[in-house]
Amino acid sequence: MAEVKACLFDLDGVIVDTAKYHYLAWKRLANELGFDFTEQDNERLKGVSRVRSLEILLEIGGITLDEQEKQAGMDRKNGWYLEYINKMDSSEVLPGVKAFLQALRDNNIKIALGSASKNAMIILRNIDMVSYFDAIVDGTKTSQAKPDPEVFLLGAKELGVAPSECVVFEDAEAGVEAAKRAEMYCVGVGSAEQLGQADFVIASFDEMSIDRLKF
Ligand code: G6P
Ligand code: MG
Repeated sequence: MAEVKACLFDLDGVIVDTAKYHYLAWKRLANELGFDFTEQDNERLKGVSRVRSLEILLEIGGITLDEQEKQAGMDRKNGWYLEYINKMDSSEVLPGVKAFLQALRDNNIKIALGSASKNAMIILRNIDMVSYFDAIVDGTKTSQAKPDPEVFLLGAKELGVAPSECVVFEDAEAGVEAAKRAEMYCVGVGSAEQLGQADFVIASFDEMSIDRLKF
């Protein structure tokens, strides 16, 4: 590939482990609606937009809601989710992330966020990481959810680099697919079994270094 000029990071599951908070909040909604929601079910929601997450949840529970009820359900879930993320601080940044981002800065490689979350700014502020990013593309700026490549293409555009010069870091299958559809190099963060479409997979950023960006 061309020389790497930018790295684009997903947020949930890459920089912080918020999947556990999403899970607890969705589970509470499921329980209120009268059915259970397991951690295994939650895997299906990773990287997926809020509205699509609700649809999957309702499909699991075998429940149909009208548009107004759906909106109310999402609002309730987000209220509970906000209670969790409002308590977050920098101790929740995943291992190796800050050191790698600092190494990118030292090497003049640009950094963008590419997240589906509408809560991304709240999380970045709470973990004190806003200043690491040259561009922030989140769920308030995009109209198409991953696996659509929009979020990453917009990130590259805001940074002024070509997709072929970008590397994406993703923990969700939908996110890896979005990166590949954007024709970007993709590093999976998590299990190689699940993220087989990625160009290579790391278990954590402790394994990552600038040298590994020389493909
Ligand atoms: C990320 C998470 C998803 C979540 C989505 C929307 O992609 O991995 O689980 O549904 O963001 O998040 P939000 O904070 O806007 O509900
Ligand atoms: Mg993610």
